Amino acid sequence: MTPSPEVHVFPDAAALAEAAAQRFIALATAAVAARGRFSVALSGGATPGALYRLLAAEPFRARAPWAQLHLFWADERCVPPDDPGSNYRLVAETLLAGAPIPPENVHRMRGEWEPECAARDYECALRAFFGVEAPRFDLVLLGLGTDGHTASLFPGAETLAETARWVVPAVAEYENRPAWRLTLTLPVLNAARNVIFLVRGADKAAIVRVALGDTAARLPAQRVRPAAGQVTWLLDAEAGNALPSIG
Ligand code: 6PG
Repeated sequence: MTPSPEVHVFPDAAALAEAAAQRFIALATAAVAARGRFSVALSGGATPGALYRLLAAEPFRARAPWAQLHLFWADERCVPPDDPGSNYRLVAETLLAGAPIPPENVHRMRGEWEPECAARDYECALRAFFGVEAPRFDLVLLGLGTDGHTASLFPGAETLAETARWVVPAVAEYENRPAWRLTLTLPVLNAARNVIFLVRGADKAAIVRVALGDTAARLPAQRVRPAAGQVTWLLDAEAGNALPSIG
């Protein structure tokens, strides 16, 4: 049976980032003890930078098994890696700048390439790392858009119907961000051992309520339900303030 999502609400954005960092370290430590490595797919956007900065600073920096950590991306915007819109750049500036991750453990999507080539290339990279089975990430860190998108899986997009490919190009207009994207697909997200949705801010409260309470809505974020993995929602009080139990 698919485990039920866990939901945790924290008083503010700082407490949210701190709790996410604690979970990241706990999952990393457990994965390394069990399998000798920790594979994680990261997201972009405005929310996760605080977490990445915390991880790269003490006390978390000393606790993470950096040499066994393998960084991937859940999605990328189709821009060069030094572009302000690049999800790689976000991680480079906030996490890689301060954490001793071996460069060969950093597996970025080629946002600067033609999207179809970049998607095929990343699928090859995933196959090289995980083998031929659907990649089983130890952790996929996701955000939530105000329209219910997650990674670069947008409502109504044909990418949601993908059953075979692991990485696909996507195109969507959202908040003046680069429209062309690359994204992991649902078969990959739903093979993960752990998925954390990290969501903050009052503008997310309404969509969080739908995502967690309206099973008929079928938002992209609701379709991330690994059959053999745990989904955890970490929210700040503003994002959680329309949930029935606390609102
Ligand atoms: C991206 C993301 C995307 C993001 C959501 C939430 O590249 O834009 O990976 O899925 O997580 O849009 O973004 P915010 O954290 O900015 O609200």
